[in-house]
Amino acid sequence: MAFSMKQRVDAGLTRKAAHTVSRVPAVAVRAVAAPSAPAAAPASETKNAYGVFRLSYDTQNEDPSLTRSWKKTIKVAVTGASGNIANHLLFMLASGEVYGKDQPIALQLLGSERSKEALEGVAMELEDSLYPLLREVSIGIDPYEVFGDADWALMIGAKPRGPGMERADLLQQNGEIFQVQGRALNESASRNCKVVVVGNPCNTNALIAMENAPNIPRKNFHALTRLDENRAKCQLALKSGKFYTSISRMAIWGNHSTTQVPDYINARIGGIPATDLIRDNKWFREEFTPKVALRGGALIKKWGRSSAASTAVSVADAIRSLVVPTAPGDCFSTGVISDGNPYGVREGLIFSFPCRSKGDGDYEICDDFIVDEWLRNKIRASEDELQKEKECVSHLIGMMGGACSLRGVEDTTVPGEN
Ligand code: LMR
Repeated sequence: MAFSMKQRVDAGLTRKAAHTVSRVPAVAVRAVAAPSAPAAAPASETKNAYGVFRLSYDTQNEDPSLTRSWKKTIKVAVTGASGNIANHLLFMLASGEVYGKDQPIALQLLGSERSKEALEGVAMELEDSLYPLLREVSIGIDPYEVFGDADWALMIGAKPRGPGMERADLLQQNGEIFQVQGRALNESASRNCKVVVVGNPCNTNALIAMENAPNIPRKNFHALTRLDENRAKCQLALKSGKFYTSISRMAIWGNHSTTQVPDYINARIGGIPATDLIRDNKWFREEFTPKVALRGGALIKKWGRSSAASTAVSVADAIRSLVVPTAPGDCFSTGVISDGNPYGVREGLIFSFPCRSKGDGDYEICDDFIVDEWLRNKIRASEDELQKEKECVSHLIGMMGGACSLRGVEDTTVPGEN
């Protein structure tokens, strides 16, 4: 592989001007990305790519036996790319442990004006890590450029809640970011781009991005609730004394908030219902459920910041759930559009359901989960909350009216900050 330091310096000097250049035709990007691209692209070509520095490899000198069985390179855009979560996730992506050891990858990293230097640092660390599957890294602060032809968009960047801010304020501020980024996805990303929203409040942010990206199938938008599933599995493993790999059908329903519903009723441990193994309904309802829902907050108290490593791991798990077939009878949790769901959840919300996949990037909502009265009421409460969130951002998703009733009420949206 080769990367010229001069390229980086040249591009660095011209970065400011380059950010204002008009959109780059996709073909120009592909030309740099092609396997036969020369090791050191001319500086002008480098600038043309995204107007920022770009790292490309000399694949001509590569041992063909290494790459013969590889798939076509995929483009993965990551927002909030210089943040804590990305700092864990990017290296997992580049190593091949997420998309597979035969899946070359191009990383397209989005930062902000403030984080440009840090973003270069991230790209330098990726470069220094010598991952054979990592074919390119590009960085930028314009989502229209960075999302160019992206097959996946991992939307991590969002504002954390500041002092005195209400949940409605957070919805507004982050909503505006996701409106812009949704529009950018709509214009620039691959038509079948899969979008995983991590930045909170992730369900409603995903909804905003989706509503602003009508060119991309609604089904392709996900809000990360896999972290909650992993937390629930951890608690079941600790209580039952069984290893977490024996836990299946551990679904999270609803919002990634304290109203989320970790579904112990359908969960299995070693193939048998968790409630048969742990015969303690009080524990399930009064300890397990709040512990999972409040885990983000407990972590913030310990760390002084949100979970980062375990969130990154759960993003990796969420992607793998879509690119690897789900084991028979099992499920994974993800927040997806509720349109046509088999559980009567109102349509038009990004809602976490138990899902399964054939491993082709697509999924279906499982239709065989038992919903008893307790579960139904809990699901309804989370659904009501998501509907209220939707009303607060109606102006960002092209809906009329919608008064925001979330001001001055108990804050449940961001587990870590209530
Ligand atoms: C988490 O669940 O750990 C995070 O979503 C919490 C947060 O506020 O970032």
